Amino acid sequence: MSLRARLTGFGSYLPKQVVTNAELAERIETSDEWIRTRTGISQRHIAGEGENAVTMAAAAARSALAYADVAAESVDAVIVATATPDQGFPATAVRVQAELGMSAGFAFDITAACSGFVYALSTAEAFIRSGQAKKVLVIGTEVYSRIMDWEDRTTCVLFGDGAGAVLVEASDEAEVGILSTHLHSDGTYADLLYVDGPTVEKPVLHMQGRDVFRHAVAKLSSVVDEALAANGLSGEDIAWLVPHQANLRIIEGMAKKLSLPLDRVVVTVDRHANTSAASIPLALDEAIRDGRIKPGDLVLIEALGGGLTWGSALLRI
Ligand code: UT7
Repeated sequence: MSLRARLTGFGSYLPKQVVTNAELAERIETSDEWIRTRTGISQRHIAGEGENAVTMAAAAARSALAYADVAAESVDAVIVATATPDQGFPATAVRVQAELGMSAGFAFDITAACSGFVYALSTAEAFIRSGQAKKVLVIGTEVYSRIMDWEDRTTCVLFGDGAGAVLVEASDEAEVGILSTHLHSDGTYADLLYVDGPTVEKPVLHMQGRDVFRHAVAKLSSVVDEALAANGLSGEDIAWLVPHQANLRIIEGMAKKLSLPLDRVVVTVDRHANTSAASIPLALDEAIRDGRIKPGDLVLIEALGGGLTWGSALLRI
């Protein structure tokens, strides 16, 4: 029987410091009302002293390993999705490897902005199916507070910091784990959402929000259709939608498209804001630990981000 890639561990980390919409409204020309009605966001976590891409990723990874009751030394690969690494190189993933006390296996980063977790999960699945790895840590970790122009109200109210992790293990059980993944990118839209290059003294994020919104609705619709069609399923078969958390209006649009009531959609954007590659594993961890997502549930994940990149995956927990 062919090997499957099964999610066996879940973990996350959120910075201690919480910044509310009202606090932002004291500093820039915005309001709690505007942010909540246009995005669904009420607050975000912001990394403070001692919290960075590596420490948050390592904390999330430790929690995922503990959940699965797996020792770090038996992990074959660490894949970190991040657009906000602490250093140009080495990869965040090798720093995480060291933090976890691992000196074997291999580790590398993936840059696909907000789609990073879906890309990393798909990569982990490929290593497992090919027999090259049996246990892979897949982590999304982001410190977007570092790349914000805190004077730009069109972007700085939207993002937050945090990390989420899953452990993916080889399994020979049929019909469990990752059923399929679907990845896309189109670099002709790269200028819609980008961060300045390292030659700039203070690189910051730039986004044409309205255009990205339009692409998100269309491309996410098509990539969830692709996932359902590849598995001969329809929206009603999905137990839980765990979407990238950029904007509640996009999330509601996807739920409607899938004919899913909102109580079958995991929503964290209200409390976490947009944590880019960390948003899906943060949401997964929350819903697994509070018992909403149960073993055997069919879960659909989807994301769109800078690149543009987008993708989906269907998972049987
Ligand atoms: O995770 C990666 C993918 N990212 C996304 O999926 C984000 C997609 N885009 C969005 O979520 C939305 O487009 C935004 C939340 C970014 C913006 O919402 P919108 O409803 O598209 O607003 P808008 O950009 O059309 O702006 C409407 C108005 C503008 O004023 P005028 O030109 O109508 O006078 C903005 O200047 O709202 C103004 N505005 C604000 N007002 C108060 C923009 N930001 C703010 C703000 N507070 N923070």
